[in-house]
Amino acid sequence: MKRVGILNSGGDCAGLNAVIASAVVTANKLGYEVIGFEQGWEGLLDPMMYRPLTLDAVRGISHLGGTILGTVNHGRFGAKKGEGQSRRIPADVLQMAADNLKKLDVDGLIVIGGDGTLSGAVQLAAFGVNIVGVPKTIDNDLMLTARTFGFSTACQVVVDALDRIHTTATSHHRVIFVETMGRHTGWIAFRAGLAGGANAILAPEFEFQVPDLVSFLRHRQATRRSSVVVVAEGAHISSKGVHWGEKSEEEVNLGGISHYLMSLVGGLAPDEFEMRHVVLGHTQRGGTPNAADRVVAKAYGCEAMKAYDRGEFGTVVAYINQSMITVPIDECTGDLKRVTADTLEYITARDLGVFVH
Ligand code: F6P
Repeated sequence: MKRVGILNSGGDCAGLNAVIASAVVTANKLGYEVIGFEQGWEGLLDPMMYRPLTLDAVRGISHLGGTILGTVNHGRFGAKKGEGQSRRIPADVLQMAADNLKKLDVDGLIVIGGDGTLSGAVQLAAFGVNIVGVPKTIDNDLMLTARTFGFSTACQVVVDALDRIHTTATSHHRVIFVETMGRHTGWIAFRAGLAGGANAILAPEFEFQVPDLVSFLRHRQATRRSSVVVVAEGAHISSKGVHWGEKSEEEVNLGGISHYLMSLVGGLAPDEFEMRHVVLGHTQRGGTPNAADRVVAKAYGCEAMKAYDRGEFGTVVAYINQSMITVPIDECTGDLKRVTADTLEYITARDLGVFVH
């Protein structure tokens, strides 16, 4: 019987289990056995961590958050560091992964991941491994695909939070800064900020000046008495740049901009506003996928396995114009899909008087 491996790597997101389950169901129909590698790429390296993914093993998991395989977003296969900085995975690590697949009689892999994971997949493909990728990230920042699963659920989490934050901000006449994830793009901030009625949306793509924000908040406090500011973790403050959280040898993390921005606003307008900040953090990644993400995740899983069976290796499944196609992996890594001044969410927010930069 033919054997295919499946792994997910990088941050988890809602819908991963639905991809896994639907890939396994499709593989089974096409006559494949499936091996699931655990803890991302690490499961493929010595000492290997894997388990057979039978139909029984994936029954009833599609609606569950997280991933039954576990995941890591660092380790020996790390192929990205910071924005756009690629790292060459050492040849002995890639060789070990290719050899281990051979030892298990696994012909190739379905790899579910974001920019970093797929960059690793490109490097492994050069060692003769057959790979079909599935784009995964709550950030929705992968090129050539209209929507990644997990994004819609993350936006819903933010919108639910904004509904609550508006009422408390209004009651106390406060300015509340709400920090969203998204790394170097503002998709979550713009989609959820617009849906959740944010008064200002600050995203990495549109550098802003703090004094302009202060003027905007002054006007709002005078007329409406409260404000909710959605700030993407990677937002770009003019003359100050991006606010990095932790930096280590392996990875650079964003985070903390809402608190920092609050202090900058307070510095320019001492005692003028009563301010609070909320970091939504990993609540955006956890929990059950919503209907939209379940559907797209299931479609990704089925289509990836069908593409694998057709021998379309070195590709990623992309969701474009309501249908699934395959595109070369390296065309959707490297650069990021960014919010632009032509993006509907941006235009609509601006038209409605939201402070966008
Ligand atoms: O890429 C997904 C993401 O959730 C980003 O939005 C965020 O910056 C990052 O991962 C957080 O990673 P970690 O789970 O390592 O804190």
